[in-house]
Amino acid sequence: MPSEDAAPPLDVDQILADDGVRIVVCCGAGGVGKTTTAAALALRAAERHGRRTVVLTIDPARRLAQSLGLTELDNTPRQVKGIDVEASGGELHAMMLDMKRTFDDVVLQHTDPAKAAEIFANPFYQAMSSTFAGTQEYMAMEKLGQLHARGEWDLIVVDTPPSRSALDFLDAPARLSRFLDGRMLRLLLAPARSGGRSMFSLVTASFGMFSKVVQKVLGAQLLTDLSGFVAALDSMFGGFRQRAEQTYRILQARETAFLLVAAPEPDAVREAAYFAGRLRSERMPLAGLVLNRVHRPAADLSAAESLAAAERLAGVGGHEGTVEVLRAHAALAQQAVREEQVAARFTEAFPAVPAVSVAAQPADVHDVDGLRTIGEAISRS
Ligand SMILES: Nc1ncnc2c1ncn2[C@@H]1O[C@H](COP(=O)(O)OP(=O)(O)OP(=O)(O)O)[C@@H](O)[C@H]1O
Ligand SMILES: [Mg+2]
Repeated sequence: MPSEDAAPPLDVDQILADDGVRIVVCCGAGGVGKTTTAAALALRAAERHGRRTVVLTIDPARRLAQSLGLTELDNTPRQVKGIDVEASGGELHAMMLDMKRTFDDVVLQHTDPAKAAEIFANPFYQAMSSTFAGTQEYMAMEKLGQLHARGEWDLIVVDTPPSRSALDFLDAPARLSRFLDGRMLRLLLAPARSGGRSMFSLVTASFGMFSKVVQKVLGAQLLTDLSGFVAALDSMFGGFRQRAEQTYRILQARETAFLLVAAPEPDAVREAAYFAGRLRSERMPLAGLVLNRVHRPAADLSAAESLAAAERLAGVGGHEGTVEVLRAHAALAQQAVREEQVAARFTEAFPAVPAVSVAAQPADVHDVDGLRTIGEAISRS
């Protein structure tokens, strides 16, 4: 229900139809509907707006992936068949991020095959490329950079990893490149330039405690592996950082639109507000908020009214079914009010950010029809 403090309405179709918009990034807290929203928007961009669209999904649910024709991680976009693009002339391509393959590709691009093989064989690399916290975020950015550089698509819709915090997507690349940059590790491992004395022993002398802890935590073998890894990556540090910085600049450009996805729950809305603040300070273009999975009662009957009616009927007797329906309606109406209050916290903090609500569907969204329905809900058509 529109109220005086309501946010301006978000016009998603205007964004999807705008030739100047080349990247849409869907971000938000874990489990709020980022992947669903990204896929729904990409489908709509292709079907309604005739755009040659690619959606980069991250860990999509199996059934959703299957319905997009994605049966395995192959790290390249595949055209989605069986969608309704005859009239619009658009195309939809979809891919799932394979973070290890993406990392491998980056290594291959930045070094010769022999050195790459050495890196691939390193246990530290193996662990880091598949499990290191932040690798997925970094590789999502990397993949976005690659897709953008290919220049083949009118529109790239990007899903973001299921991080605990939405901010991880923006923070992880810097954190990872700081780690790869590994000043501290290099200080520990590199031989000193003068006197042939290892910097390691110098550091050991002054930070004895610290390196003992490092040894203990990492183990001697791992330290050797790590030393090899850092040495092998040495030539690529600049490359990694430069690429992350490049992608960061793309994210700041006018061709990018960030869409924040949130569920109408305190944690998700708080997360969305943090993220909106961060985008503002990074000068990254926030296009709007998608409040996903909201509950709306079917009739304009307040919780109090329907509870009162339920109690009156219950007193009469013989209307158990109706009483139950009225009580269920009251619960839903109460929930809707709570959700509006939660959403208002975001709108109060960011009154200029356009927003749209998407109703909770009766079932999970796992096929093209379901995505189309979500797309219609987001664009209120
Ligand atoms: N409006 C909706 N109504 C009903 N179900 C929904 C709606 N939006 C998303 N879902 C369902 O909620 C679940 C989570 O959605 P989704 O995978 O898109 O979230 P996510 O933000 O990508 O999660 P993660 O952070 O784990 O990646 C899925 O099963 C999806 O089908
Ligand atoms: Mg997801």
